[in-house]
Amino acid sequence: MSTKSVITGCGAYLPQKILTNDDLAKIVDTSDEWIRERTGIRERHIAEEGEKTSDLATKAAQAALEAAGCEPGDIDLIIVATATPDLTFPSTAAIVQAKLGAAAGAAFDMQAVCTGFIYALSTAEKFLAAGQHKRALVIGAETFSRILDWTDRTTCVLFGDGAGAFVMEAQDRKTARGRGYINSYLRCDGRLVDLLYVDGGVSATQTTGHLRMQGNKVFREAVARISQAMEWVATDAGIDIHTVDWFVPHQANERILKGVVKKLDLRPEQVISTIAHQGNTSAASIPLAYCQGVADGRIKQGDLVLLEGMGGGLTWGAALLRA
Ligand code: UT7
Repeated sequence: MSTKSVITGCGAYLPQKILTNDDLAKIVDTSDEWIRERTGIRERHIAEEGEKTSDLATKAAQAALEAAGCEPGDIDLIIVATATPDLTFPSTAAIVQAKLGAAAGAAFDMQAVCTGFIYALSTAEKFLAAGQHKRALVIGAETFSRILDWTDRTTCVLFGDGAGAFVMEAQDRKTARGRGYINSYLRCDGRLVDLLYVDGGVSATQTTGHLRMQGNKVFREAVARISQAMEWVATDAGIDIHTVDWFVPHQANERILKGVVKKLDLRPEQVISTIAHQGNTSAASIPLAYCQGVADGRIKQGDLVLLEGMGGGLTWGAALLRA
């Protein structure tokens, strides 16, 4: 019998420590005004020393499990989207599995940088649809503070740490009653690697490296590629994009969100934005924004929600679901 992959719960975790724009102005030559006007960011959360990506991921996962009303032992697939794993190996997903006490099923990481959560969600759905797994934890978790060059004002002001998680469950169509994942669109253009990358790694330098970005070139690519992905999922699903209830974007820059709204003629109040208080949390930003929408009562069961993102690779994509 064919099933639907339904999001039965979501959870979020942000480290306690907050770094404001004024705090950053004491470290690099920048200002609250510049950061707010160019990006919309006011503050971001930063993991404490010793607080790892797996710690953030585990806390978000526990909140998602509670929201879904299930136990760690009910989970038979864990996918962690991250570009900042605890260790080179094993996967952060394996570490999260142990921290949760969920020693059943499969666990692995997904690396598509800021598009990672869309890639992970789409992958989890394929596993559930194939029938070999029943209930997945799909997590986006990052500690980008660890790979920032804190002397580079063009990048260090943009990013923050955090984690968000979904519980996604295979349900028969009658039980799902129209809810669940509908489709997704995943793309990568590896010719654009140099626009956004980390200048270190196991095989290349045997160091962790620092994030490097040609921000204005990434910016120029963003609106067109994101809009194309969003239009593709809507058209493929046979729906008018203007009937979507909520847009949950990757939170890179408020000006990118506004550019997409303008290009696709959407209503700005349909866009869930967390950028002011979280900055860009890479793979965590989409589930964090989704959880915010659920927590404050905007996203309700049955709403049509479109997720989208773009990041290093370049990778970009979108996913459509009924909450
Ligand atoms: O999540 C993955 C995907 N990432 C993105 O989508 C990020 C996309 N890019 C962006 O969001 C924007 O390009 C940035 C926010 C990174 C930069 O904004 P921009 O309007 O494109 O600025 P710019 O890079 O063209 O720089 C303009 C000026 C430069 O000074 P000059 O050369 O005109 O004198 C920069 O040196 O702003 C300067 N600048 C800063 N000034 C104060 C760059 N960073 C800062 C800063 N504070 N933090």
